[in-house]
Amino acid sequence: MIKRRVAILISGRGSNMAALIKAAAAADFPAEISLVISNKADALGLERAKASGVNTLVIESKPFGKDRAGFEKVLQAALDQHGIELICLGGFMRLFTAEFTRNWYGRMLNIHPSLLPSFPGLDPHGQALRAGVKLSGATVHFVIPETDAGPIVMQGAVPVGDHDTGDTLSERILEVEHRIYPEALRLLATGKVRIEGDVCRTAGSAASENFLVAPVVN
Ligand code: GAR
Repeated sequence: MIKRRVAILISGRGSNMAALIKAAAAADFPAEISLVISNKADALGLERAKASGVNTLVIESKPFGKDRAGFEKVLQAALDQHGIELICLGGFMRLFTAEFTRNWYGRMLNIHPSLLPSFPGLDPHGQALRAGVKLSGATVHFVIPETDAGPIVMQGAVPVGDHDTGDTLSERILEVEHRIYPEALRLLATGKVRIEGDVCRTAGSAASENFLVAPVVN
């Protein structure tokens, strides 16, 4: 099987990166993690990637300051050098220029810990708790110039309870993230998703018959 060459971009602990690396280790997974790039030298995820035998690269973004295009030039050169076909953002906390996102449109995924379009941006867990939603979750989407927006590839939902804190909610959502991100990458790498306008469609898909209702009162 020809595997698509994927780069994962991280800034921190890299748990989604680890989930993708683990899934991609399977012989029948349609993509290989060819490179992990961090914009921070001290990102914990770098050690995890190295421990898994994945190539890592640090491109510090700080020296570039507001010069996003300058940072992206170096980034693009690294992606070209490694023959990268698809990008997965995994907690990559730096905004791109509109041009970079357009160049990678349809080939770059992000994951965000809310049911987008609700609660984009910073502190989505706090936003969800303050809004009092009873369900939240995670979203894998194609990257567009707007932050935490773009055609949605896959979502997973979890209940939110009265006793949840940002920590307990983020822990529950993280499990969903680790489940849906590899699945979404699998769909993209096998050409099963297509973008129609603002909407992503999936070949051979059917909606799940499961309901998730919250709260449950006994
Ligand atoms: C994840 O929860 C991811 O969804 C979120 O950052 C965390 C990174 O964790 N991303 C965003 O908020 C994007 N706006 P990880 O480094 O352990 O994968």
